Amino acid sequence: MSSYLHTLPTAEAAARACAERIAEIIKESIAARGEARVALSGGSSPKVMFGELAKLPIEWSRVWLYWVDERVVPPDHPDSNYKMAMEYLIRPAGIDIQHLSRIAGERYPEEAAAHYVSEIRVDFKLKEGEFPVFDLIHRGMGPDSHTASLFPGDPLIEDDYEIAANTYVEKFNSHRVTLLPGVLMAARRTVILAPGADKAQALRDVLEGKTDIMKHPCQIAAKPPAPTEWFVDPAATKMLTHKY
Ligand code: 6PG
Repeated sequence: MSSYLHTLPTAEAAARACAERIAEIIKESIAARGEARVALSGGSSPKVMFGELAKLPIEWSRVWLYWVDERVVPPDHPDSNYKMAMEYLIRPAGIDIQHLSRIAGERYPEEAAAHYVSEIRVDFKLKEGEFPVFDLIHRGMGPDSHTASLFPGDPLIEDDYEIAANTYVEKFNSHRVTLLPGVLMAARRTVILAPGADKAQALRDVLEGKTDIMKHPCQIAAKPPAPTEWFVDPAATKMLTHKY
């Protein structure tokens, strides 16, 4: 995994720097291809980042937004990643909902996953076996080094064929739909926002531990040349032994 760490003094500064980097990558993608296809993650740390992103001068009429994963709940449910993005980014930035491809969490898990896969296939004009190439995938990392909704030990981590699937996360007693490793590895650019002391052990395991994506799913990385860009703070990097 080729990684580049942006270490900022605080979690807020890491969120701001991540937002600025996303804006840069969107601008580069629009300049290169006339549009940008971006997949967003959920959880809590993106809230500040989305708030910063909503303030930046971005040509949203040329951006298409997707989700890295979703909890299988209706779009107005408090656990919905779509709801969180709507509240902190989409409404404040005035993004046209025609530019959103959300995961239909109100459906049955399998149905929601199949619907999302077919939508992506159409949008990216994919042939059988092809993966969508996102201009940017924004990811997070859990204290257990999960990313997207790929949790340690999940057999989906070894699925190198499908685009997205539903999975059941025992510890959260929740069904999720998640993009799969083939898509994460095909991304042109990847940013991971992971500040906070609760990420320190996971960050060391992912960056300095033995490569074992089943144990540390966040080691799943986009193929070089583009490095995975991490946005972290000293609380998250405190256990690292190497310089990045
Ligand atoms: C989700 C996410 C998940 C998230 C991590 C980290 O739906 O929960 O997409 O993969 O990125 O759980 O979450 P935090 O950044 O809030 O710690």
